[in-house]
Amino acid sequence: MGFRGFIVLVVLMGMRGSPTGAVSLKDESAHPNFVTREQKDLTVEEGRGDVMATGELNPSHFPARRAAKVVQHYLNTRYGSPYRLFGLEDVHSATAEDVADTGRRYHLQISAHEIISNRTQKCSADVFFPRGEPTQSPEVKASCEELLQNTTAQEEALYQRYKEGHSLLSAQYIPDSQGHIEPDMMPFWHLSIVASSFIMLHESTENTLYNMAQVAQITQLETEREELKFDSHMLLHDMVSQEILHWKLLFTWSPAEGVKVQQMQQIPKPNH
Ligand SMILES: *[C@@H]1O[C@H](CO)[C@@H](O)[C@H](O)[C@H]1NC(C)=O
Ligand SMILES: *[C@@H]1O[C@H](CO)[C@@H](O)[C@H](O)[C@H]1NC(C)=O
Repeated sequence: MGFRGFIVLVVLMGMRGSPTGAVSLKDESAHPNFVTREQKDLTVEEGRGDVMATGELNPSHFPARRAAKVVQHYLNTRYGSPYRLFGLEDVHSATAEDVADTGRRYHLQISAHEIISNRTQKCSADVFFPRGEPTQSPEVKASCEELLQNTTAQEEALYQRYKEGHSLLSAQYIPDSQGHIEPDMMPFWHLSIVASSFIMLHESTENTLYNMAQVAQITQLETEREELKFDSHMLLHDMVSQEILHWKLLFTWSPAEGVKVQQMQQIPKPNH
């Protein structure tokens, strides 16, 4: 079992407290996109000691990986689509500095992996975690080699199909309890990760490391507007606290406008 299998186990352990009990990601091969090439997330524990280190950071340790993960969420919010999804491939270098009393700034050189097209590109990024209460979202700046926001034929076809379809999309448990995703649902799994990236970006601090766990429910809503509109219930996994968090998310997508979040709200774990 390589790194990938190990990550799945880590996720599974986190799921045990989940009241739905629906997520067991045994069959990793069924959804190769779930675990990206993020083996270095495993160093959460190993890097804990230098969580607030400044200066040059070990690129494979938690503080650098955590800040780089925020860049991944940022890239997904800016450029993601049902056919474009970013993963963190590698952190090449990282530094951190305290900015007076206002927070901490990370400078990062990373490789971002576009999971669906299997392209990798280098990005340089700045992540600023503001200090103080109430907790504020990190501020991210990133520039990558090639970030054209092209509408692809696949996006257009998906959009047309669900815009003019005779029935609205409604799906539960992506992936299902066997870790399986129907091929038809794969674009909506990716779209859900992109939409959830808005939450993960917004909620990230220096004490979190979020990953998408499961779409509990996604329902397409009727709308007169050009975008497709979705109501959803997402499960996110924080690798640091090992908690599964439940969020209600209302969002739209169109090839021209990308993903836009209209409402996000953390909800209590449902009782079954
Ligand atoms: C993705 O690209 C890498 C390097 O460019 C290659 O080694 C790998 O086989 C590709 N993977 C897939 C699934 O095509
Ligand atoms: C995106 O659009 C640019 C400019 O129109 C074009 O040069 C490039 O090849 C396109 N990329 C993809 C992946 O379609």
